[in-house]
Amino acid sequence: MVRQDCGSCHGMRLTGGLGPALTAEALTAKPPEYLQAVILHGIPGTPMPPWSAMLTAPEAQWIAQQLFQGFPLEKLEK
Ligand code: HEC
Repeated sequence: MVRQDCGSCHGMRLTGGLGPALTAEALTAKPPEYLQAVILHGIPGTPMPPWSAMLTAPEAQWIAQQLFQGFPLEKLEK
């Protein structure tokens, strides 16, 4: 789901596209709370949409943690 929906803008390997890269290297400087807030509420004035209609807060937190640790792309393919 993250690869499909987020990948359409952030790149299929989340290395960037219309939106910035979401790789662990690109995000290490950013707190997980910030990532969760961005995922839930989007960034006003940019194409980054809010996901609160589709995701719960714990789900957004989970995605933030996965991104932070380096998204396990290989695991998703299995
Ligand atoms: C419609 C295109 C689009 C989709 C779909 C999208 N994003 Fe984004 N996202 C963006 C753009 C554009 C930005 C940069 C906004 C800006 O200029 O600050 C962004 C920024 C972000 C940031 C902040 C990155 C940073 O370095 O500050 C995070 C985190 C993020 N997106 C996560 C996600 C996640 C997770 C998903 C899937 C649930 C997702 N995005 C889906 C377009 C998108």
